[in-house]
Amino acid sequence: MKILIIGGGGREHAIAESVARSPRAEKIFCAPGNAGIAEFAQCVPIDVMEFEKLVAFAREEKIDLTIVGPDDPLVGGIVDVFETAGLRVFGPRKNAAILEGSKAFSKDLMKKYEIPTAGYENFTDPDAAIAHLVHAKYPIVLKADGLALGKGVLICNSLEEALDGVNTIMLEKQFGDSGNTLVVEEFMQGREVSVLSFVDGKTIRIMTSAQDHKRAKDGDLGLNTGGMGTFSPSPFYTEEVDAFCKEYVYQKTVDAMALEEREFKGIIFFGLMLTEQGPKVLEYNARFGDPETQVVLPRMKNDIIDVVEACIDGTLDQIELEFEENAAVCVVLASNGYPERYEKGHLITGMERFKGQDGYYLFHAGTRQTEDGVVTNGGRVLGVTAKGKDLKQAREHAYQATQWVQFANKYMRNDIGKAIDEAE
Ligand code: AMP
Ligand code: GLY
Repeated sequence: MKILIIGGGGREHAIAESVARSPRAEKIFCAPGNAGIAEFAQCVPIDVMEFEKLVAFAREEKIDLTIVGPDDPLVGGIVDVFETAGLRVFGPRKNAAILEGSKAFSKDLMKKYEIPTAGYENFTDPDAAIAHLVHAKYPIVLKADGLALGKGVLICNSLEEALDGVNTIMLEKQFGDSGNTLVVEEFMQGREVSVLSFVDGKTIRIMTSAQDHKRAKDGDLGLNTGGMGTFSPSPFYTEEVDAFCKEYVYQKTVDAMALEEREFKGIIFFGLMLTEQGPKVLEYNARFGDPETQVVLPRMKNDIIDVVEACIDGTLDQIELEFEENAAVCVVLASNGYPERYEKGHLITGMERFKGQDGYYLFHAGTRQTEDGVVTNGGRVLGVTAKGKDLKQAREHAYQATQWVQFANKYMRNDIGKAIDEAE
């Protein structure tokens, strides 16, 4: 089969690596891809939002299957455009990707179908939001309704901070039209777990759990980032949590979307918080997580093409997912200064150390091939993933491997997976 992957980050590199393992994959293309993906896919310089160009490319190359990685094209309706052109594509249509594209929609859905989540109110009028905030309990959480690169969530400790937040989101429009609607949400406390799943419209199959580290600095300090590292499985995702979510969250979400005539096919990523009152949904994403995918897919035993096709064809009930009985840790190597200001264009050395090393992966996030070699080209540059027999061993392996690669201004967190020790 000829397969096209859309996207060009660490997530897409992990997807491409998984696709490349399938004996069914004859040729892989990736748009736009990156220097790492180029090792086993032909990278095509088309942006993820250039739907017509992507369709033309897929037609010309007679692509059998397209897999979409990022949220922007999904929320923008890329799947509808491909389907209208008669092309086979994996991901939710626009009317289902709204599960991630609008937080107000997803909160209303959870309320209507009694899926556990934090209490909230939606506002389109800043004055009404302010009137509500004057009498609210603090801390409180403000969220821009739409996509905001993971930055549209503000945790406010006082009325003053909340008023600033309303200003930033609704009046200054720091996140553009994403801030036309504001979700004001009750503050919750607990451990966060990421659960990715394959969905075929009716059936849902849960992948192994993972935990992200969103803050830039050790000890969960610093600014929110796209994710500085992950581990899988999460020791806090116990059988009780799993049983609870199977009863009250996963299938209920899929059924709710079907009842709303927004059949969901693709990946649902459940961002859960394990609170004292039980697991609650923090957010839904309509795609693979980044860097969750970098620790989840390397542990999946199934042929990813079989699973993806079953989602498209509505035959996921005939598939059981299987994961290795081990663990994986991913440490992100970033450019110092991320997520604010950072330099680009520094040469990366030592990457060849990963070749032929079983259980070690170097996923490229922000890299670029130049005549002189591969250089840094983003805030998150590389994701170093390693497996181990358990989480501790995987963490040891991953941190060892972070020393194999060098570039100027290399920055990483040194406490990825610290929670593993607290689980004992
Ligand atoms: P979201 O994009 O909705 O996942 O929010 C980003 C991050 O903000 C989450 O991963 C949490 O760490 C935090 N967060 C979001 N909603 C809440 C909430 N209701 N209570 C506490 N923290 C939250
Ligand atoms: N790692 C969080 C996300 O992909 O949204």
